Amino acid sequence: MRKMLIIYLSFIFFSGPTFSAGSMDLDEYLEGMNVKTSDVRSLQRGAKNFFNNCSGCHTLQYMRYNQIAEDLGITEDQLMQNLIFTESSPQDLVMNNMLSEDGNRWFGKAPPDLTLVTRRKSPEYVYGFLNSFYEDNGSPTGVNNHVQEASSMPHVLWDIEERFSDQEYSQFLNDTVGFLVYAGEPIIEKRKSMGVWVIGFLLIFLILSYALYKDIWREVK
Ligand code: HEC
Repeated sequence: MRKMLIIYLSFIFFSGPTFSAGSMDLDEYLEGMNVKTSDVRSLQRGAKNFFNNCSGCHTLQYMRYNQIAEDLGITEDQLMQNLIFTESSPQDLVMNNMLSEDGNRWFGKAPPDLTLVTRRKSPEYVYGFLNSFYEDNGSPTGVNNHVQEASSMPHVLWDIEERFSDQEYSQFLNDTVGFLVYAGEPIIEKRKSMGVWVIGFLLIFLILSYALYKDIWREVK
């Protein structure tokens, strides 16, 4: 029992400092964050952003192109023109041509698959990460990142961030992160609308049982 207590107490005393060491205040980099996975237009823009700016390095290895198209109301033509830049066909998984050895060699670390990144980390982490690159001449990529210290990812959104107003850049990030949240849980919207049906059903059930209850007791009285 005492041993347990000591372990427990040491958690309280030591977990705080170990967690905070080297971590940052993510909140500082979340200005303008407003991810809306229920907004299909936003997800469509996010898909476009992803395929234009990220898919050269990052894969979505659990997603198929045609599933994305179907879920986001994108036609096959739009799919071929705007989203597929490799020789892939619509039913293929979203992979790219980078071999992980090359990724390791080029960046020091192969770009990770992003299908589950918003779940493995969090939507906030990804938004903050894309929102906190800063110039650093000491780094091989010329930039560094507040959220991921010494990240080997170059600031690929550099010119977009330069050209866009703060508001436009936030929108760009919200769309992109929203798309990644969707990719991590493609049924998210279906699940939400399912919830509405279930609650509707329960309400009707409640009304019916109340009516029945009234009816039965009228006979008893
Ligand atoms: C030129 C290649 C390249 C491009 C393009 C690129 N990335 Fe990366 N990205 C990387 C590399 C390399 C890493 C690994 C960084 C590290 O761990 O040091 C990374 C890491 C990440 C991470 C962190 C993942 C984790 O588990 O911590 C996220 C999130 C991410 N990228 C998102 C994006 C998004 C979104 C885009 C498009 C807007 C993008 N990346 C475009 C190379 C790239």
